[in-house]
Amino acid sequence: MNNIASSLNKKSKFLILGCGYSGSFFTKTIRKLGFTALTSSRSKNKDPNSFIFNSETNILPNKEIFDGVTHILSCIPPDKNGNDPVLKCLKSKLKTCSLEWVGYLSTTGVYGNTQGDWVSEIDIPNPFQKRSQKRLNCEKEWIASGLPVQIFRLPGIYGPGRSTFEAIKNNKIRVIVKKNQVFSRIHVADIVSAIIYLLKNKDSLKFYQIINIGDDEPCSQMEVIQYCYDLLGTKMPEPIFFEDAKKELSPIAKSFWMENRRVSNKLLCKTLGYKLIYKNYKLGLKNCLLNV
Ligand SMILES: NC(=O)c1ccc[n+]([C@@H]2O[C@H](COP(=O)([O-])OP(=O)(O)OC[C@H]3O[C@@H](n4cnc5c(N)ncnc54)[C@H](OP(=O)(O)O)[C@@H]3O)[C@@H](O)[C@H]2O)c1
Repeated sequence: MNNIASSLNKKSKFLILGCGYSGSFFTKTIRKLGFTALTSSRSKNKDPNSFIFNSETNILPNKEIFDGVTHILSCIPPDKNGNDPVLKCLKSKLKTCSLEWVGYLSTTGVYGNTQGDWVSEIDIPNPFQKRSQKRLNCEKEWIASGLPVQIFRLPGIYGPGRSTFEAIKNNKIRVIVKKNQVFSRIHVADIVSAIIYLLKNKDSLKFYQIINIGDDEPCSQMEVIQYCYDLLGTKMPEPIFFEDAKKELSPIAKSFWMENRRVSNKLLCKTLGYKLIYKNYKLGLKNCLLNV
């Protein structure tokens, strides 16, 4: 077990609930550090350390799965009724475990539209979209659960296999411009690394229940796309104005353009001292290009 994990107990056992994109990345990293990590998905897969959990069909993990579990990371979004799938199905089970820590991946959507202003953890959430209202309710449910939960609010997640390069490769790119519109984002490696940093230093750092994990440079989507084309050495398609593009966008795609905010990472990076691996999209995308 190498140094980074030194202050996590050697007996720490992780359950990763919802082992999708971020969950898989976390699992790979924490296993490399020598910890046991069991993962859930809604259907059977090849990983012998994976089990099925599906709140919709009420397929629940066997009780042995929870033996000795000390740490849980939930990466599962609210269900269609707005309930948290984990709390709905597993809260009473979790209450019987000797949990030291529960991480919950939430979204910066709970802040709503700040019209481009910076927003931080001390600002009162003001969700605009219905899905973000559901998310805020789930956050509240987690806090009320009495479990030792730490909530991570995430902006757009990108990384190897999930970046603008895939959209370009699959011919799904649309270059849309909307004046003064910015988005915040985070590379998946920084989500994982920030959480492990906080766990490693848990005893020496002040505990904050809600923490944003975002990079240093919110910017327009067009800048990101332009940079990808620059790295590929090809010409970016002509941009389309949002007002013209919006009639063809799906409701979900349109909803992203309805919110404009810059998410502050000062708590994580200044107060708590985490150093980003990819402090901006340029560094992050260069990493993604290696894996396209
Ligand atoms: N993607 C983004 O840009 C973004 C931005 C901010 C926040 N977030 C939030 O951050 C979290 C992690 O994001 P991600 O993109 O890494 O997630 P993801 O790849 O979509 O993975 C979600 C996981 O949740 C599981 N799941 C979904 N509904 C479930 C249910 N009813 N019962 C049991 N398991 C269920 C999925 O199971 P299967 O493996 O079987 O599919 C999957 O493993 C999510 O809550 C997401 O909403 C995402």
